[in-house]
Amino acid sequence: MIYTVLLYRNTSVPGILSLHLYLLNKKNFYMNKLILLCGAAIGIGLASCSSPQKGDDYGWLKHALNVSATQLKATADEVNDTVLLPRSIWTGYEMDFLCNQLERDPSTFRDSLRVKPVTATLGTRRYCFSIYDWTSGFFPGNLWLAYRLTGDKQLEQDAIRFTNYLYPLREYKGTHDIGFMMNCSYGNAYRTASADSARQALIQTADNLCGRFDPQIGCIRSWDFGRWNFPVIIDNMMNLDLLFYVYHLTGDERYKDIALKHADTTMKNHFRPDYSSWHVVSYNNDGTVELKCTHQGKNDDSSWARGQAWAVYGYTSCYRETKDPKYLEQAQNIAGYIMKTVSTNDSIPLWDYNAPDSPQTPRDASAASVTASALIELSTLAENGQAYFDYAERLLKNLSSPAYLAQPGENQGFILKHSTGSLPNGSEIDTPINYADYYYLEALERYMKVKGIQYGEL
Ligand code: GLY
Repeated sequence: MIYTVLLYRNTSVPGILSLHLYLLNKKNFYMNKLILLCGAAIGIGLASCSSPQKGDDYGWLKHALNVSATQLKATADEVNDTVLLPRSIWTGYEMDFLCNQLERDPSTFRDSLRVKPVTATLGTRRYCFSIYDWTSGFFPGNLWLAYRLTGDKQLEQDAIRFTNYLYPLREYKGTHDIGFMMNCSYGNAYRTASADSARQALIQTADNLCGRFDPQIGCIRSWDFGRWNFPVIIDNMMNLDLLFYVYHLTGDERYKDIALKHADTTMKNHFRPDYSSWHVVSYNNDGTVELKCTHQGKNDDSSWARGQAWAVYGYTSCYRETKDPKYLEQAQNIAGYIMKTVSTNDSIPLWDYNAPDSPQTPRDASAASVTASALIELSTLAENGQAYFDYAERLLKNLSSPAYLAQPGENQGFILKHSTGSLPNGSEIDTPINYADYYYLEALERYMKVKGIQYGEL
Protein backbone atom coordinates (compact mmCIF):
# COMPACT_ATOMS: atom_id res chain seq x y z
CA MET A 1 0.00 0.00 0.00
CA ILE A 2 1.38 3.39 -1.00
CA TYR A 3 1.07 5.90 1.80
CA THR A 4 3.50 8.66 1.01
CA VAL A 5 4.03 10.76 -2.06
CA LEU A 6 6.59 13.51 -1.81
CA LEU A 7 7.33 16.51 -3.91
CA TYR A 8 10.87 16.58 -5.09
CA ARG A 9 12.40 19.75 -6.46
CA ASN A 10 14.68 18.81 -9.32
CA THR A 11 17.73 20.98 -8.72
CA SER A 12 19.25 20.22 -12.12
CA VAL A 13 16.29 21.91 -13.85
CA PRO A 14 15.94 25.31 -12.15
CA GLY A 15 12.42 26.47 -11.46
CA ILE A 16 10.79 23.21 -12.42
CA LEU A 17 9.07 21.29 -9.71
CA SER A 18 8.96 17.66 -10.63
CA LEU A 19 7.25 14.83 -8.84
CA HIS A 20 9.52 12.36 -7.18
CA LEU A 21 7.43 9.47 -5.97
CA TYR A 22 8.72 8.06 -2.77
CA LEU A 23 6.77 4.87 -2.40
CA LEU A 24 6.83 3.28 0.96
CA ASN A 25 5.51 -0.19 0.54
CA LYS A 26 3.91 -1.25 3.78
CA LYS A 27 3.86 -4.89 2.83
CA ASN A 28 7.62 -4.93 2.43
CA PHE A 29 7.96 -2.88 5.59
CA TYR A 30 6.17 -5.57 7.61
CA MET A 31 8.09 -8.35 5.82
CA ASN A 32 11.33 -6.63 6.80
CA LYS A 33 10.11 -6.31 10.38
CA LEU A 34 9.20 -10.00 10.41
CA ILE A 35 12.66 -10.96 9.11
CA LEU A 36 14.25 -8.72 11.75
CA LEU A 37 12.13 -10.28 14.48
CA CYS A 38 12.96 -13.81 13.33
CA GLY A 39 16.64 -12.84 13.20
CA ALA A 40 16.41 -11.43 16.69
CA ALA A 41 14.66 -14.57 17.93
CA ILE A 42 17.39 -16.79 16.45
CA GLY A 43 19.97 -14.41 17.92
CA ILE A 44 18.40 -14.79 21.35
CA GLY A 45 18.64 -18.55 21.08
CA LEU A 46 22.16 -18.76 19.71
CA ALA A 47 24.29 -15.85 20.80
CA SER A 48 26.10 -16.46 24.03
CA CYS A 49 25.91 -12.78 24.85
CA SER A 50 22.17 -12.42 24.30
CA SER A 51 19.07 -13.24 26.40
CA PRO A 52 17.60 -10.13 27.93
CA GLN A 53 17.15 -10.91 31.60
CA LYS A 54 14.56 -9.38 33.86
CA GLY A 55 16.39 -6.89 36.00
CA ASP A 56 19.03 -6.07 33.38
CA ASP A 57 19.68 -2.38 33.71
CA TYR A 58 19.05 -0.73 30.37
CA GLY A 59 18.39 2.71 31.79
CA TRP A 60 21.44 4.04 29.94
CA LEU A 61 20.07 2.67 26.67
CA LYS A 62 16.61 4.14 27.09
CA HIS A 63 18.14 7.49 27.98
CA ALA A 64 20.46 7.33 24.95
CA LEU A 65 17.58 6.58 22.58
CA ASN A 66 15.38 9.31 24.03
CA VAL A 67 18.13 11.91 23.86
CA SER A 68 18.92 10.88 20.26
CA ALA A 69 15.30 11.16 19.13
CA THR A 70 14.83 14.51 20.91
CA GLN A 71 18.01 16.00 19.44
CA LEU A 72 17.31 14.87 15.90
CA LYS A 73 13.68 16.00 15.86
CA ALA A 74 14.58 19.41 17.25
CA THR A 75 17.36 19.81 14.65
CA ALA A 76 15.09 18.77 11.77
CA ASP A 77 12.51 21.30 12.99
CA GLU A 78 15.08 24.08 13.24
CA VAL A 79 16.52 23.41 9.82
CA ASN A 80 12.98 23.23 8.48
CA ASP A 81 12.86 23.73 4.69
CA THR A 82 16.23 25.38 4.24
CA VAL A 83 17.78 22.27 2.61
CA LEU A 84 20.73 22.51 4.99
CA LEU A 85 22.28 19.29 6.25
CA PRO A 86 23.81 19.51 9.76
CA ARG A 87 27.43 18.36 9.89
CA SER A 88 29.21 19.50 13.09
CA ILE A 89 30.02 22.59 15.20
CA TRP A 90 32.62 25.07 14.00
CA THR A 91 35.80 24.90 16.05
CA GLY A 92 39.05 26.83 16.05
CA TYR A 93 42.57 26.03 17.15
CA GLU A 94 45.65 27.56 18.63
CA MET A 95 48.70 27.18 16.42
CA ASP A 96 50.89 26.08 19.35
CA PHE A 97 48.37 23.44 20.32
CA LEU A 98 48.30 21.98 16.80
CA CYS A 99 52.07 22.02 16.55
CA ASN A 100 52.30 20.15 19.83
CA GLN A 101 49.75 17.57 18.72
CA LEU A 102 51.68 16.99 15.50
CA GLU A 103 54.98 17.23 17.37
CA ARG A 104 55.96 19.70 14.66
CA ASP A 105 56.24 16.94 12.08
CA PRO A 106 56.79 18.71 8.74
CA SER A 107 55.01 15.95 6.81
CA THR A 108 51.63 16.75 8.37
CA PHE A 109 51.85 20.41 9.29
CA ARG A 110 49.96 22.38 6.65
CA ASP A 111 50.77 25.93 5.72
CA SER A 112 47.07 26.60 5.24
CA LEU A 113 46.81 26.49 9.04
CA ARG A 114 48.55 29.83 9.23
CA VAL A 115 45.17 31.28 8.22
CA LYS A 116 43.22 31.86 11.44
CA PRO A 117 39.77 30.27 11.79
CA VAL A 118 36.82 32.63 11.38
CA THR A 119 35.88 33.61 14.92
CA ALA A 120 32.36 34.77 14.01
CA THR A 121 31.23 31.20 13.32
CA LEU A 122 32.95 29.48 16.25
CA GLY A 123 30.49 27.41 18.28
CA THR A 124 27.71 27.63 15.68
CA ARG A 125 26.28 24.72 13.75
CA ARG A 126 28.29 23.84 10.68
CA TYR A 127 26.31 22.57 7.69
CA CYS A 128 27.40 20.50 4.70
CA PHE A 129 28.58 22.93 2.03
CA SER A 130 26.07 21.24 -0.32
CA ILE A 131 24.68 17.77 -0.91
CA TYR A 132 28.10 17.00 -2.48
CA ASP A 133 29.81 17.21 0.94
CA TRP A 134 31.04 13.71 1.86
CA THR A 135 29.02 13.76 5.10
CA SER A 136 25.66 14.67 3.51
CA GLY A 137 24.14 11.20 3.94
CA PHE A 138 24.65 10.96 7.68
CA PHE A 139 21.94 13.31 8.94
CA PRO A 140 19.22 11.59 6.85
CA GLY A 141 20.71 8.27 7.98
CA ASN A 142 20.52 9.34 11.62
CA LEU A 143 16.84 10.09 11.18
CA TRP A 144 16.19 6.66 9.64
CA LEU A 145 18.12 4.86 12.37
CA ALA A 146 16.38 6.80 15.15
CA TYR A 147 13.02 6.07 13.53
CA ARG A 148 13.76 2.35 13.36
CA LEU A 149 14.97 2.38 16.96
CA THR A 150 12.04 4.26 18.49
CA GLY A 151 9.17 3.98 15.99
CA ASP A 152 8.61 7.75 16.25
CA LYS A 153 6.60 8.75 13.16
CA GLN A 154 7.95 12.30 13.16
CA LEU A 155 11.43 10.92 12.62
CA GLU A 156 10.19 8.90 9.67
CA GLN A 157 8.71 12.00 8.02
CA ASP A 158 11.92 13.94 8.63
CA ALA A 159 13.99 11.04 7.26
CA ILE A 160 12.00 10.98 4.03
CA ARG A 161 12.32 14.74 3.63
CA PHE A 162 16.09 14.91 4.12
CA THR A 163 16.75 11.77 2.07
CA ASN A 164 14.93 13.26 -0.91
CA TYR A 165 17.28 16.24 -0.94
CA LEU A 166 20.08 13.87 -1.95
CA TYR A 167 18.37 12.43 -5.04
CA PRO A 168 20.73 14.22 -7.51
CA LEU A 169 23.67 12.34 -5.94
CA ARG A 170 22.71 9.22 -7.87
CA GLU A 171 24.39 10.88 -10.85
CA TYR A 172 27.53 11.99 -9.03
CA LYS A 173 30.85 10.32 -9.87
CA GLY A 174 33.37 12.65 -8.25
CA THR A 175 34.40 10.70 -5.11
CA HIS A 176 34.39 7.25 -3.51
CA ASP A 177 32.32 8.84 -0.71
CA ILE A 178 29.15 8.34 -2.77
CA GLY A 179 29.05 5.00 -0.95
CA PHE A 180 28.68 6.74 2.43
CA MET A 181 26.41 9.44 1.04
CA MET A 182 23.87 7.16 -0.62
CA ASN A 183 24.05 3.99 1.46
CA CYS A 184 23.45 5.87 4.72
CA SER A 185 20.50 7.85 3.27
CA TYR A 186 18.85 5.91 0.43
CA GLY A 187 20.22 2.59 1.69
CA ASN A 188 18.50 3.06 5.01
CA ALA A 189 15.36 4.32 3.30
CA TYR A 190 15.24 1.13 1.26
CA ARG A 191 16.09 -1.12 4.21
CA THR A 192 13.29 0.49 6.24
CA ALA A 193 10.63 0.44 3.54
CA SER A 194 11.49 -0.54 -0.01
CA ALA A 195 10.70 1.82 -2.86
CA ASP A 196 11.63 1.40 -6.49
CA SER A 197 13.05 4.92 -6.82
CA ALA A 198 15.39 4.25 -3.90
CA ARG A 199 16.46 0.91 -5.39
CA GLN A 200 17.28 2.54 -8.72
CA ALA A 201 19.22 5.35 -7.04
CA LEU A 202 21.33 2.78 -5.16
CA ILE A 203 22.05 0.77 -8.30
CA GLN A 204 23.03 3.87 -10.25
CA THR A 205 25.34 4.96 -7.44
CA ALA A 206 26.95 1.52 -7.25
CA ASP A 207 27.57 1.69 -11.00
CA ASN A 208 29.24 5.08 -10.55
CA LEU A 209 31.38 3.71 -7.70
CA CYS A 210 32.41 0.76 -9.90
CA GLY A 211 33.35 3.31 -12.58
CA ARG A 212 36.11 4.45 -10.20
CA PHE A 213 37.60 0.93 -10.11
CA ASP A 214 40.88 0.41 -11.99
CA PRO A 215 41.42 -3.28 -12.83
CA GLN A 216 45.17 -2.81 -13.36
CA ILE A 217 45.52 -1.41 -9.84
CA GLY A 218 42.77 -3.53 -8.28
CA CYS A 219 41.25 -0.65 -6.32
CA ILE A 220 38.49 1.95 -6.37
CA ARG A 221 40.00 5.43 -6.60
CA SER A 222 39.18 7.48 -3.47
CA TRP A 223 39.84 11.13 -4.25
CA ASP A 224 40.11 13.29 -7.36
CA PHE A 225 42.09 16.03 -5.59
CA GLY A 226 45.60 16.23 -4.20
CA ARG A 227 49.19 15.41 -5.10
CA TRP A 228 48.71 11.65 -5.51
CA ASN A 229 48.56 9.62 -8.75
CA PHE A 230 45.82 7.22 -7.63
CA PRO A 231 44.96 7.70 -3.94
CA VAL A 232 43.21 4.98 -1.98
CA ILE A 233 42.35 5.73 1.63
CA ILE A 234 41.50 3.14 4.26
CA ASP A 235 38.08 4.86 4.62
CA ASN A 236 37.23 3.42 1.20
CA MET A 237 36.60 0.04 2.88
CA MET A 238 33.35 1.58 4.14
CA ASN A 239 32.00 2.08 0.63
CA LEU A 240 32.11 -1.65 -0.11
CA ASP A 241 28.87 -2.19 1.80
CA LEU A 242 26.98 -0.32 -0.92
CA LEU A 243 28.40 -2.72 -3.51
CA PHE A 244 27.53 -5.76 -1.40
CA TYR A 245 24.03 -4.40 -0.91
CA VAL A 246 23.46 -3.76 -4.60
CA TYR A 247 24.83 -7.22 -5.36
CA HIS A 248 22.02 -8.59 -3.18
CA LEU A 249 19.46 -6.31 -4.84
CA THR A 250 20.43 -7.29 -8.39
CA GLY A 251 22.25 -10.64 -8.19
CA ASP A 252 24.99 -9.12 -10.36
CA GLU A 253 28.32 -10.56 -9.14
CA ARG A 254 30.32 -7.69 -10.65
CA TYR A 255 29.53 -5.46 -7.64
CA LYS A 256 30.76 -8.06 -5.19
CA ASP A 257 33.83 -8.96 -7.27
CA ILE A 258 34.96 -5.34 -7.43
CA ALA A 259 34.40 -4.88 -3.69
CA LEU A 260 36.46 -7.97 -2.87
CA LYS A 261 39.28 -7.13 -5.27
CA HIS A 262 39.50 -3.71 -3.61
CA ALA A 263 39.56 -5.37 -0.17
CA ASP A 264 42.31 -7.80 -1.25
CA THR A 265 44.55 -5.10 -2.73
CA THR A 266 44.02 -2.97 0.39
CA MET A 267 44.83 -5.93 2.63
CA LYS A 268 48.11 -6.38 0.75
CA ASN A 269 49.29 -2.76 0.81
CA HIS A 270 47.60 -0.77 3.57
CA PHE A 271 48.66 -2.74 6.65
CA ARG A 272 51.79 -2.86 8.75
CA PRO A 273 52.98 -6.07 10.45
CA ASP A 274 51.12 -5.08 13.66
CA TYR A 275 47.82 -4.72 11.64
CA SER A 276 47.66 -0.97 12.03
CA SER A 277 46.86 0.83 8.79
CA TRP A 278 48.30 3.65 6.77
CA HIS A 279 45.73 6.25 5.86
CA VAL A 280 46.61 6.87 2.19
CA VAL A 281 48.23 4.47 -0.27
CA SER A 282 48.73 5.92 -3.72
CA TYR A 283 49.35 3.67 -6.74
CA ASN A 284 51.21 4.07 -10.00
CA ASN A 285 49.22 3.22 -13.12
CA ASP A 286 50.86 -0.23 -13.33
CA GLY A 287 49.55 -1.11 -9.85
CA THR A 288 52.82 -0.63 -7.97
CA VAL A 289 52.72 1.52 -4.85
CA GLU A 290 53.65 5.17 -5.40
CA LEU A 291 53.72 6.16 -1.72
CA LYS A 292 52.15 5.58 1.68
CA CYS A 293 51.28 8.54 3.84
CA THR A 294 48.63 10.25 5.94
CA HIS A 295 46.20 13.07 5.31
CA GLN A 296 44.35 13.18 8.62
CA GLY A 297 46.69 11.37 11.01
CA LYS A 298 49.57 12.64 13.13
CA ASN A 299 52.23 11.57 10.65
CA ASP A 300 52.73 9.16 7.78
CA ASP A 301 53.56 6.19 9.99
CA SER A 302 51.08 6.88 12.77
CA SER A 303 47.78 5.08 13.37
CA TRP A 304 44.98 7.59 12.81
CA ALA A 305 42.19 6.42 15.13
CA ARG A 306 39.24 6.60 12.73
CA GLY A 307 41.24 4.86 10.02
CA GLN A 308 41.69 1.80 12.24
CA ALA A 309 37.94 1.83 12.91
CA TRP A 310 37.08 2.03 9.21
CA ALA A 311 39.43 -0.93 8.63
CA VAL A 312 37.92 -3.30 11.20
CA TYR A 313 34.42 -2.37 10.04
CA GLY A 314 35.27 -3.00 6.37
CA TYR A 315 36.86 -6.43 6.82
CA THR A 316 34.03 -7.52 9.12
CA SER A 317 31.63 -6.70 6.27
CA CYS A 318 33.79 -8.69 3.83
CA TYR A 319 33.62 -11.73 6.12
CA ARG A 320 29.87 -11.36 6.58
CA GLU A 321 29.46 -11.41 2.82
CA THR A 322 31.88 -14.22 1.91
CA LYS A 323 32.59 -16.33 5.00
CA ASP A 324 36.17 -16.41 3.70
CA PRO A 325 38.34 -16.91 6.82
CA LYS A 326 41.04 -14.53 5.57
CA TYR A 327 38.68 -11.58 6.12
CA LEU A 328 37.72 -12.79 9.58
CA GLU A 329 41.38 -13.13 10.49
CA GLN A 330 42.08 -9.63 9.19
CA ALA A 331 39.16 -8.13 11.12
CA GLN A 332 40.21 -9.91 14.31
CA ASN A 333 43.82 -8.81 13.93
CA ILE A 334 42.77 -5.17 13.47
CA ALA A 335 40.37 -5.45 16.43
CA GLY A 336 43.23 -6.89 18.47
CA TYR A 337 45.45 -3.94 17.55
CA ILE A 338 42.76 -1.43 18.59
CA MET A 339 41.93 -3.17 21.86
CA LYS A 340 45.52 -3.50 22.99
CA THR A 341 46.70 -0.07 21.82
CA VAL A 342 43.98 2.19 23.21
CA SER A 343 45.43 4.19 26.08
CA THR A 344 42.48 6.03 27.63
CA ASN A 345 40.66 4.92 30.77
CA ASP A 346 37.29 4.84 29.03
CA SER A 347 38.63 3.30 25.79
CA ILE A 348 37.40 6.23 23.69
CA PRO A 349 40.58 6.67 21.62
CA LEU A 350 42.70 9.75 21.22
CA TRP A 351 42.36 11.16 17.71
CA ASP A 352 45.47 9.22 16.69
CA TYR A 353 46.87 6.20 18.54
CA ASN A 354 50.30 7.87 18.37
CA ALA A 355 49.12 11.31 19.51
CA PRO A 356 50.78 12.77 22.63
CA ASP A 357 49.32 11.04 25.67
CA SER A 358 48.21 14.16 27.51
CA PRO A 359 44.94 15.35 29.07
CA GLN A 360 44.75 18.08 26.38
CA THR A 361 44.85 15.63 23.47
CA PRO A 362 41.43 15.49 21.79
CA ARG A 363 39.62 12.19 21.57
CA ASP A 364 37.63 10.87 18.68
CA ALA A 365 34.19 9.65 19.69
CA SER A 366 33.47 8.86 16.04
CA ALA A 367 36.28 6.28 15.99
CA ALA A 368 34.73 4.73 19.11
CA SER A 369 31.24 4.54 17.61
CA VAL A 370 32.48 3.02 14.32
CA THR A 371 34.54 0.50 16.33
CA ALA A 372 31.55 -0.34 18.55
CA SER A 373 29.34 -1.02 15.56
CA ALA A 374 31.99 -3.15 13.85
CA LEU A 375 32.80 -5.18 16.96
CA ILE A 376 29.16 -5.98 17.67
CA GLU A 377 28.88 -7.43 14.18
CA LEU A 378 32.24 -9.19 14.58
CA SER A 379 31.02 -10.70 17.87
CA THR A 380 28.20 -12.45 15.99
CA LEU A 381 30.60 -13.87 13.38
CA ALA A 382 33.67 -14.92 15.37
CA GLU A 383 33.81 -18.04 17.53
CA ASN A 384 35.23 -16.12 20.47
CA GLY A 385 32.85 -13.20 19.96
CA GLN A 386 32.10 -12.38 23.59
CA ALA A 387 35.27 -10.30 24.09
CA TYR A 388 34.33 -8.10 21.12
CA PHE A 389 30.79 -7.71 22.36
CA ASP A 390 31.97 -6.78 25.86
CA TYR A 391 34.39 -4.21 24.48
CA ALA A 392 31.71 -2.68 22.25
CA GLU A 393 29.23 -2.59 25.14
CA ARG A 394 31.79 -0.76 27.23
CA LEU A 395 32.30 1.77 24.44
CA LEU A 396 28.56 2.29 24.08
CA LYS A 397 28.00 2.73 27.81
CA ASN A 398 30.84 5.23 27.99
CA LEU A 399 29.61 7.14 24.94
CA SER A 400 26.18 7.23 26.61
CA SER A 401 27.57 8.81 29.77
CA PRO A 402 27.35 12.58 30.38
CA ALA A 403 31.00 12.91 29.32
CA TYR A 404 30.02 12.22 25.69
CA LEU A 405 26.22 12.19 25.36
CA ALA A 406 24.59 15.59 24.93
CA GLN A 407 22.04 17.04 27.29
CA PRO A 408 18.75 17.48 25.38
CA GLY A 409 18.63 20.96 23.85
CA GLU A 410 22.41 21.42 23.92
CA ASN A 411 25.25 20.50 21.57
CA GLN A 412 23.57 22.23 18.58
CA GLY A 413 21.26 19.24 18.26
CA PHE A 414 23.98 16.63 17.81
CA ILE A 415 23.97 13.47 19.93
CA LEU A 416 27.63 12.92 20.83
CA LYS A 417 30.37 15.33 21.81
CA HIS A 418 34.16 15.05 21.38
CA SER A 419 34.95 13.83 17.89
CA THR A 420 37.88 14.93 15.77
CA GLY A 421 37.56 15.24 12.00
CA SER A 422 40.92 16.33 10.62
CA LEU A 423 43.34 17.77 13.14
CA PRO A 424 46.28 18.34 10.77
CA ASN A 425 43.94 20.39 8.58
CA GLY A 426 42.65 22.37 11.58
CA SER A 427 39.14 21.07 10.94
CA GLU A 428 36.51 19.80 13.40
CA ILE A 429 38.66 19.34 16.47
CA ASP A 430 36.96 18.04 19.64
CA THR A 431 33.43 18.67 18.40
CA PRO A 432 30.20 16.82 17.58
CA ILE A 433 30.15 15.35 14.04
CA ASN A 434 27.21 13.76 12.21
CA TYR A 435 28.99 10.48 11.43
CA ALA A 436 29.84 9.87 15.08
CA ASP A 437 26.08 10.00 15.72
CA TYR A 438 25.38 7.73 12.75
CA TYR A 439 27.63 4.87 13.85
CA TYR A 440 26.56 5.31 17.47
CA LEU A 441 22.92 4.79 16.45
CA GLU A 442 23.87 1.90 14.17
CA ALA A 443 25.82 0.32 17.03
CA LEU A 444 22.83 0.73 19.36
CA GLU A 445 20.61 -0.93 16.76
CA ARG A 446 23.04 -3.84 16.42
CA TYR A 447 23.35 -4.06 20.20
CA MET A 448 19.58 -4.25 20.68
CA LYS A 449 19.26 -6.86 17.97
CA VAL A 450 21.85 -9.12 19.57
CA LYS A 451 20.27 -8.61 22.99
CA GLY A 452 16.76 -9.11 21.61
CA ILE A 453 15.58 -5.81 23.09
CA GLN A 454 12.82 -3.58 21.69
CA TYR A 455 12.50 0.10 22.58
CA GLY A 456 8.99 -0.48 23.96
CA GLU A 457 10.31 -2.98 26.52
CA LEU A 458 12.86 -0.63 28.03
N1 GLY B 1 36.30 9.73 5.34
C1 GLY B 1 36.82 10.91 5.87
C2 GLY B 1 37.01 10.84 7.33
O1 GLY B 1 36.88 9.81 7.96
O2 GLY B 1 37.30 11.89 7.90
